[in-house]
Amino acid sequence: MPHIQIAIDGPSGAGKSSLSKAVAHALGIIYVDTGALYRTVGYYAREIGLPAAKAEIIPIVDHLHEITIEVKYENGVQCVYLNGENLGDRIRSSDMSMYASAVSTVPEVRAFLLDTQKDIAAKNSVIMDGRDIGTVILPDADVKIFLTASPEARARRRVQELAEKGMPDTYENVLADMLRRDEQDRNRDVAPAIAAPDAVHFDNSYDGFDEAVEALTAVIREGLAKKGKEI
Ligand code: DC
Repeated sequence: MPHIQIAIDGPSGAGKSSLSKAVAHALGIIYVDTGALYRTVGYYAREIGLPAAKAEIIPIVDHLHEITIEVKYENGVQCVYLNGENLGDRIRSSDMSMYASAVSTVPEVRAFLLDTQKDIAAKNSVIMDGRDIGTVILPDADVKIFLTASPEARARRRVQELAEKGMPDTYENVLADMLRRDEQDRNRDVAPAIAAPDAVHFDNSYDGFDEAVEALTAVIREGLAKKGKEI
């Protein structure tokens, strides 16, 4: 099989992770969730008592040397270890989403996580999801997708996801948080969450999951074929 790099970017709740997982399965490659890395740094920031706000989280920079992050694949599932401990779903709460967004505005944090991400993609065929994969992490990716959906569809999905994880939150809270986070992610100075010029835009506002997987897989296969990489 050829070495394959697929970049999936877009705002939170657009369905990046569930779609990417399904496409990874269909293509027989690894799914890499890079948001989990920012969530893990965010988790550490909370551990040391920093607030989840852009300006006040900056002292995390002085603590990055205390952090070791490892990404492992256990039964095909990505597990992120913080200083030897698998954090599991503890990084998935709404609180951790805000922490992740806050630490992700800090250039030193982004630089700190750069090699981990590049390394995984160099060693494996991947479909990697995040905000700056097509622009910064894998600028030479074979296929770049910018995945979007309406804020309402995204918030509905996220509410369901949180409920399934036993961390329920209201639609109103989730929508408000999401819009705040979008604004912060889009307008930060380093690696803003924007589409690469050569990305294919894919709208995932509709509800039919299987339909979306099929359509996205087709777009990706077509992109790979253009690069002479058929799988
Ligand atoms: O994809 P997610 O919701 O788990 O991401 C959490 C936060 O991390 C999100 O607010 C933006 C940030 N992030 C980023 O800046 N760059 C990435 N490649 C992935 C996530």
